[in-house]
Amino acid sequence: MQRTLSILKPDVTRRNLTGAVNERIERGGLRIIAQKRLHLTLTQAQKFYAVHQERAFFNDLCQSMISGPVVAQVLEGENAILHYRNVMGATNPANADEGTIRKDFAESIEANSVHGSDSVENAAKEISFFFSEMEIVG
Ligand code: CMP
Repeated sequence: MQRTLSILKPDVTRRNLTGAVNERIERGGLRIIAQKRLHLTLTQAQKFYAVHQERAFFNDLCQSMISGPVVAQVLEGENAILHYRNVMGATNPANADEGTIRKDFAESIEANSVHGSDSVENAAKEISFFFSEMEIVG
C-alpha cells in the first residue's frame, strides 16, 4: 500500500466538480483517506510549489492555485503515486489520454484540475504539508 497527496485545484471547486472528480478517483480504485477544503494564501502556494520557483510558470501557477478554494486529499492504494498519475492524465490536458481526469475536466496546463505527487519522497513531504497523522484515517 502507498499514499499520495492529491489536490483538486480551484478550477474544480469553482465549477462544482469536487464530487465528479472524487468519483473518478474512487472508480480508479484509490481510497480517499483524508480530505480538507481550504483557500491557500500566496505564501502557502509558493511554499508548496517551491521546487518550481525558478520556472517561468511559477507566478502564474501560484496565482491560479489561490484563485479559489482547493481540496487537499491523501489517497491510498497499491502503487498509488503512479496509479493516480495515470488516473489524472498528462500535465498538459492537450496530451492527456481519453478517460483521464485532465482530459475530461482540465481547462489549461495551470488550471489542470488536479495535482498528484510525483515520487515517494515528495508524497511524504506534500502529505505532511497539509495533514497531521491524526487526520489521515486509512
Ligand atoms: P502540478 O501537478 O500541480 O505540478 C506543477 C504544475 O505547474 C503543473 O501541475 C501545472 O499545472 C503547472 N505548469 C504550468 N506550466 C507548466 C509546464 N510548462 N510544465 C509543467 N507544469 C506546468
